[in-house]
Amino acid sequence: MNYLKISYLCREVYNKKKTIMKVFCVSLLTFIAVACCNQQTENQSNAVSSSPQKNEVVENILNRRSIRSYKSEQVAQAQLDTIINCAINAPSAVNRQPWEVRVVQHADLLKKINDRVKTKSNNTKEDYSVFYNAPTLIIVARDKQNNYSASDCGMLAQNILLSAESLGLGTCVIGSLAGVFNDSDSGDLLKAIKLPDTHEVIYGIALGYKNETPDAKPREKAKVQFIR
Ligand SMILES: Cc1cc2nc3c(=O)[nH]c(=O)nc-3n(C[C@H](O)[C@H](O)[C@H](O)COP(=O)(O)O)c2cc1C
Repeated sequence: MNYLKISYLCREVYNKKKTIMKVFCVSLLTFIAVACCNQQTENQSNAVSSSPQKNEVVENILNRRSIRSYKSEQVAQAQLDTIINCAINAPSAVNRQPWEVRVVQHADLLKKINDRVKTKSNNTKEDYSVFYNAPTLIIVARDKQNNYSASDCGMLAQNILLSAESLGLGTCVIGSLAGVFNDSDSGDLLKAIKLPDTHEVIYGIALGYKNETPDAKPREKAKVQFIR
């Protein structure tokens, strides 16, 4: 009798265990399925929501600022090569690459360019530097006949700014240089940078190691609207 009772109890326990295991497995599978579903929905909604998504590229874009104070140390050639490679890998309409780029590190020419700006703007400040004494000045010129060249050069410039930032270098776009290079009496400057007359300078980009870490300037979010 005792033996039968024990064996009956054992079977009961065994059956209960089986049921518990089944319930556990089914619950686990349901939980995994629901979790996956939620993750997918979350990813989809993030694609259109403004919840902050962070990665190195995003952080690099958000960290970049215009730098207006530089160390005198020249930019390492390997870094410069990377920056220029990034620059010319920018997209351009029909891949025309309607730009000319000059990397100026020649001290006399940098002084000549700055002196010309000073003269033309009647700036008498002894230590004035239109490119903030950056040791490298990149000059970007656009093909005058190409309607997309301004936007193509903008993309090239942004690649310079962002690749420089990612390498720990500072940059500042210097739009005020365009006027000086495009004045009728600027032939000597254009000759010095070997610019063909098919192109015109649209800006310079100061490049060097940062000597300041400015805060971000406010951005006008209201200029972006979602039409849904
Ligand atoms: C086309 C263009 C021309 C610019 N020209 C000058 C300039 O001549 N001098 C200067 O100090 N900054 C110049 N800047 C930098 C802007 O002032 C700067 O990008 C803006 O104030 C936003 O600040 P952030 O670059 O630090 O985000 C120029 C920027 C662009 C895009």
